[in-house]
Amino acid sequence: MKSLTVGQMDTSGLYYHDYLHLDQLLDAQRLESAKDGEPVHDEMLFIVVHQAYELWFKQILWELDDIMAAFSGLTFDEYDTARVVGRLRRINVIQRLLLTQIDVLETMTPMDFLDFRDYLVPASGFQSVQFRLIENRLGVRPQDRLLFEGAPYTHRLQPGHRELVEAAEAEASLHAAVDAWLARTPFLESYRFWDAYQASVGKMLAADREVIATNPNLGEDERAEQLHSFDKTMEQFEAAFDPDRHAQMMAAGSRRMSYRAFQAALFISLYRDHPALQEPYRLLELLLDVDEGFTTWRYRHALMVQRMIGAKIGTGGSAGAKYLLKLAERNRAFPDLLVVPTFLVPRSARPELPTDLIAQMQFRYQQ
Ligand code: HEM
Repeated sequence: MKSLTVGQMDTSGLYYHDYLHLDQLLDAQRLESAKDGEPVHDEMLFIVVHQAYELWFKQILWELDDIMAAFSGLTFDEYDTARVVGRLRRINVIQRLLLTQIDVLETMTPMDFLDFRDYLVPASGFQSVQFRLIENRLGVRPQDRLLFEGAPYTHRLQPGHRELVEAAEAEASLHAAVDAWLARTPFLESYRFWDAYQASVGKMLAADREVIATNPNLGEDERAEQLHSFDKTMEQFEAAFDPDRHAQMMAAGSRRMSYRAFQAALFISLYRDHPALQEPYRLLELLLDVDEGFTTWRYRHALMVQRMIGAKIGTGGSAGAKYLLKLAERNRAFPDLLVVPTFLVPRSARPELPTDLIAQMQFRYQQ
């Protein structure tokens, strides 16, 4: 290490400004309005906020790549689970930041926006390649997307970008990786969990039905109504116990997760108190957090758009806020994880785990 005397500045080594390529980064804010000789003050904010988003999208993709690398290893052990949990948590914290960035943009009033909005046509956030790559890496399916002017979402992208986004549709997604990981859950093999669970649920549901049928405080109409909604619940459970019904739902597109993965997700959720299942449960929880994080952002973005442009059409040509609100719930990657809570039973009705399985699930420390 070089020694410096007081007052002497060493700028010969790596230099902050160069390391971060700030010349390029800080020279990348070119106002369209300035081309007419009258730069509009708030266009700078508009550009900086969008660029900040794209930088964070880049970081999210970086984390997703690492998550996929962890999943693609030969074995996916506790270390990999912890690594994936850490990455997903980071993505989720970034998402919270992305949400509050909208507050910064909303310091621009609709009138301020109108001063430069026409310069933007036909460009739109709809063309964000990185946003589409994130969606596709997570596992949003092309068939679930809304058509835009009767065409797929990629039609507004330049050719090179379109190929990139379409290629990401074809690549293995996080959804597929999680499905395969869940389907490999080892404890399901050694313990006939499904039979035990089915028997417990059967007992619980029969007791519930008996309570409704014999409750002296219910009038006949009320009883009939409650029995009707009870039968609906029964139907859902019966469908969950029937692999053929599950396969039909998968074929129809209303279920995405394989039957085996669904069983594993339910097993992990039911027995998440067990130390061996805590990290897998945390992973499932974070997948929901991340999926929900994007849905929340979509709603927040749609509300901001409503506030900014009212009922006007978007610069990209869509029906604006109306279109975005319709879209908000749609592009989800892990909707099946939201089905799992339907089938959770109270701890009192949960089948006990066999002692040999509990022993198998213990962490062992070797001296
Ligand atoms: C004044 C602020 C904004 C307005 C008025 C606005 C408006 C719109 C509109 C109307 C659309 C639908 C497509 C269209 O017709 O153009 C859209 C889509 C989109 N915008 Fe914005 N936007 C704003 C800010 C942002 C910001 C800061 C981002 C961050 C990257 C962003 C990202 C997106 C994305 C990713 C889509 C596609 C949504 C999807 O298809 O799921 N927008 N925006």
